[in-house]
Amino acid sequence: MQRLSVQAPGLYADFSKQKVDETALAALLDFAEAKNLGGFFTAMRAGEPVNLSENRAAQHMALRAPEGETFKALGETISNTIAAERARMRAFADELRNGQRKGITGRALRTLVHIGIGGSDLGPRLLMQALKRYHAPGMDVRFAANLDAADINDALGGCDPETTLVIVVSKSFATAETLANARAARAWLVQHLGEDAPAQHMAAVSTNLKATADFGIQDENVFAMHDWVGGRYSLWSSVGLSVMAALNEGVFEDLLAGAAAMDDHALRTPVAQNAPLLSGLIQFWNRNFLHMKARAIVPYAARLALLPAYLQQLIMESNGKSVRADGTPADLVASPIIFGAEGTNAQHAFFQQLHQAPDPVPVDFIGFTQDQEHNPGHHQGVLANMLAQSRALMSGAPAPKDAPHKNFPGNRPSTTLLMEALSPFSLGALLAFYEHETVAQAVLCGINPFDQWGVELGKHVAMEVLSHLEKNTTEGMDPSTAALIERIAKP
Ligand code: F6P
Repeated sequence: MQRLSVQAPGLYADFSKQKVDETALAALLDFAEAKNLGGFFTAMRAGEPVNLSENRAAQHMALRAPEGETFKALGETISNTIAAERARMRAFADELRNGQRKGITGRALRTLVHIGIGGSDLGPRLLMQALKRYHAPGMDVRFAANLDAADINDALGGCDPETTLVIVVSKSFATAETLANARAARAWLVQHLGEDAPAQHMAAVSTNLKATADFGIQDENVFAMHDWVGGRYSLWSSVGLSVMAALNEGVFEDLLAGAAAMDDHALRTPVAQNAPLLSGLIQFWNRNFLHMKARAIVPYAARLALLPAYLQQLIMESNGKSVRADGTPADLVASPIIFGAEGTNAQHAFFQQLHQAPDPVPVDFIGFTQDQEHNPGHHQGVLANMLAQSRALMSGAPAPKDAPHKNFPGNRPSTTLLMEALSPFSLGALLAFYEHETVAQAVLCGINPFDQWGVELGKHVAMEVLSHLEKNTTEGMDPSTAALIERIAKP
């Protein structure tokens, strides 16, 4: 299409290089109307049980709304709880940043070891990298997510236990990886500082206050999550505690403000001019009508290297489903395979495939107009590369007669999201853009983007295999797994 672009808070979305023409767009907008896309967002804002399989609201927007706005979940007002928890979190974060929160030996706690996985890890990790220019002086955050002990060992390695606070983040407080790492961290604290140390050196973020108490974490160091927010939508809650403490004062609030501005845009703008909803319609078109099974996310910013991983969970855990919310089989597909890496590095990794493989893959290019590093040579080079890639993918180039390997078929779609600066506000807006776009695609396909039953079977089977490994038996296992267990058991 000659020109299909939308200005939203924090970002300009250019869809002109996508393969939708006027007719397709009109049909998509009619389909959105038929599926009551706008109505779903209104119901979500109203706190209705849009997460049908779990009979829960999905109130991530409430977590970043300006104070004073009223939000409910299943009829119960939640704004006051949110404001109170945010105030507690801010006080705790301020004390850490100001050096007032002390460990058992009286020294200020300056290193935060954030333990969590999935939605309790990816967002905070992304923010710490993306917002490096806003790091609070003297604060350090390390992350441990993986069950591989190397992860927690690396996180604790070199830390001074006297100045370390371990923050265990788990909505359920039942996730095997997180509990194993939390136990390892507690043992490390006890070993260095004695039995009483965890009381002052451990905090938690969870919905499961009984489990945090049973684990021995003091109630005053526990911050609440709620069942009306899904893990991958929870960055805006107390899950961001370590980030709030380790970034300069007010930075986390600016992030929330950016997301809230995008919420406002998503809720109030007609679909045809609504950046996330329009993007959702176009990605739905790519997946279901152009049959594109993958989608690449390529931010042209070194500090957004973790964005593809964050969006993998957001999009694929939300929409990688084949049953509708009403239990019937879904005939439309809501999620492609998401992959990506930061530009320009990605160009030297998988762009060969994007330009010449038989299956076209739509790309999201994300760029920044401001030269925050004050290096015009690098900055213009980065932007030129980004624009060049989307242009080359669209236009292609015919092969010279004697060199068929130099054929570029072109006609490969992309979206360009242009932002001013990698600031807390624009990052908040960008992440909220992707949240709404994800939910929009789910609504168009009739699936529930807020549950994740698909990860449960693997967890269950892992417990079964673990018990076989411990008992050194292969009973009841399939031949392949049995042979692998035998091989592992051999000294
Ligand atoms: O296993 C998937 C999942 O439940 C994600 O949805 C979630 O973000 C992650 O695990 C961590 O869960 P929790 O915060 O309960 O530890």
